[in-house]
Amino acid sequence: MSEIPVLETRGLGRRFGSLDAVSDVSFSVPKGMILGVIGPNGAGKSTFINLVTGHIKPTSGKVFIEGKDMTGAAPWDIARAGVARTFQIVKPFNGMTVRENIAVGILYEPHGTNRMAVALREADEVLHTVGLAGQGERRPNELSTADVRRLEFAKALASRPRLILLDEVMAGLRPTEIGPSLDLIRELKAQGTTVIVVEHVMKAIVAVSDEVLVLAQGKVLMQGDPHEVLADPRVIEVYLGHRYAKRQKGNS
Ligand SMILES: Nc1ncnc2c1ncn2[C@@H]1O[C@H](COP(=O)(O)OP(=O)(O)OP(=O)(O)O)[C@@H](O)[C@H]1O
Ligand SMILES: [Mg+2]
Repeated sequence: MSEIPVLETRGLGRRFGSLDAVSDVSFSVPKGMILGVIGPNGAGKSTFINLVTGHIKPTSGKVFIEGKDMTGAAPWDIARAGVARTFQIVKPFNGMTVRENIAVGILYEPHGTNRMAVALREADEVLHTVGLAGQGERRPNELSTADVRRLEFAKALASRPRLILLDEVMAGLRPTEIGPSLDLIRELKAQGTTVIVVEHVMKAIVAVSDEVLVLAQGKVLMQGDPHEVLADPRVIEVYLGHRYAKRQKGNS
């Protein structure tokens, strides 16, 4: 019955000096799942993404992509395996237009076109998908914070990944701007894409995730149904501190 998970990690860890930024993280993500990843600042969420996408090498454990051991593989090899990601700190090329920023990514894709005209056309499609249709001729540094996030999302989407890891793509968005991003994530799922969403906006996480994984101090604190996870005293405690958790217990 069991289909090979799109992503599986076993005992994944990364140590920086004496700090275990990610420690003994084991879990698997089936095809088409939207997995929300939450955790307080410094919990290891971005490091986890970096480990999966090859931007940082693990000091322990394994990463399997569609059953294949990709531990320590280079980012371009992982991208070639169908994995895309966004960066929490975005670095668009300000010397090019928004549209060209995406087209360049398409040209460098392993299975993509090598014709600029085709890449620009594909870029237009992706811009439309993320709601940036009218912004293609602007420079990234002329965009609003929300639109810069959308550009980052668009760059990841342009490679038509099978697994996409989103590192706080909704940060800085107004509540009214979050809805369209959630719709887009659901649309990706409907197309069969597997999505890992790292986000601090809890409402967004609950609304969109099939399951939620909580990281705290680099370790998996718990994983499960979004509502159950967010109601769990351990999770409340890591977010809001001991006092709040105790009060909740006292009330129940
Ligand atoms: N390259 C690095 N060298 C040394 N320490 C690092 C490095 N990258 C991350 N860390 C440390 O590892 C821990 C986890 O950082 P990480 O950025 O993964 O957290 P995060 O959960 O993404 O936090 P945030 O919610 O603030 O984005 C932090 O203590 C951070 O300072
Ligand atoms: Mg982070």
